[in-house]
Amino acid sequence: MEILVTGGAGYIGSHAVKALAEAGYTPIVLDNLSQGHREFVRQGVFYQGELGDTVLLKKIFTQHDIEAVMHFAALALVGESVSEPAKYYENNVIQTFRLLREMVKHDVKNFIFSSTCAVYGIPEKIPIPEEHLRAPANPYGKTKLAVEHMLEDFSRAYNIKYVFLRYFNAAGADYRAGIGEDHFPETHLIPIVLDAAMGRRKKVNVFGTDYPTRDGTCIRDYIHVADLAQAHMLAAKYLKEDRESGAFNLGIGQGFSVREVIDIVEEVTGKKISISEAPRREGDPPVLIADSTRAINVLRWKPEYSSLEDIISSAWEWHKRKPGNVLK
Ligand code: UFG
Repeated sequence: MEILVTGGAGYIGSHAVKALAEAGYTPIVLDNLSQGHREFVRQGVFYQGELGDTVLLKKIFTQHDIEAVMHFAALALVGESVSEPAKYYENNVIQTFRLLREMVKHDVKNFIFSSTCAVYGIPEKIPIPEEHLRAPANPYGKTKLAVEHMLEDFSRAYNIKYVFLRYFNAAGADYRAGIGEDHFPETHLIPIVLDAAMGRRKKVNVFGTDYPTRDGTCIRDYIHVADLAQAHMLAAKYLKEDRESGAFNLGIGQGFSVREVIDIVEEVTGKKISISEAPRREGDPPVLIADSTRAINVLRWKPEYSSLEDIISSAWEWHKRKPGNVLK
């Protein structure tokens, strides 16, 4: 049972590789290591290369009996996607098209796609169900939606089955396995607040304190990366049972504000965090909370590690061990 995992050396991909291996699959990882880390891949077979390298894809699809593709490899910074959209369309859409075309050629039928709550844009309804209008507010979300559309068409014409996993805010780490969040540059709230807890940053900018929320800061639905990884493994099983293609939200169904996240980091780490109230960050929806009922009922997904305390404790343990970080 071989599964091609693009971006398998990255943050979420590496956790999925581990979950797949533990469930008896052989992960075949393809990663260009632009964001990924070779040492994060401890199971399966590793190929370094570009997603759209059709020669390499042909080799992989010929040498391995790939029953499904999990496609993590993508650029994922909202702000950067606004200033450099060409990079996003090239990486996230064109390269993915090449991958899909090779799948069709080699008769690989199952596709599990790392999609995002960013496809919904500014939500009209909270919690957000999968049927919600897809109206992304930035190029990043648009490139992810473009791939969803491509899959819908490929599925009708070429009989490809897909699962879109629309992640909310991935966080936490499987620190005992030596994997966790390690982006450069880092833009995500939890690792930034942990950096401040370590003394590697003087203060945390809180982007926007005048949102229509309980304390004026944005609310997000944080989901542990190990729970996301389990959902991928379940999606592979689901497609193997020849079930219907579909989209699944992955969140916990509960939201926490930026200030609440900072408070819990203070509790978990015992460190005081200095904050600075900063202007809103462009394109941030005030509230994003998932309705994940479908994943729970249909995929039989049971998030186990996603209390915010557990997420932050595991992220903290990883952050202290992360190569290059030294506790002050
Ligand atoms: N934030 C701060 N200060 C920081 C960093 C973040 O106040 O230094 C705030 C943000 O403004 C936001 C919240 O913390 O309100 C969470 O921000 P993140 O950057 O951690 O996460 P996002 O919700 O912006 O991003 C996530 C995914 C993206 C996805 C997006 C959809 O990481 O891939 O949700 O909106 F596109």
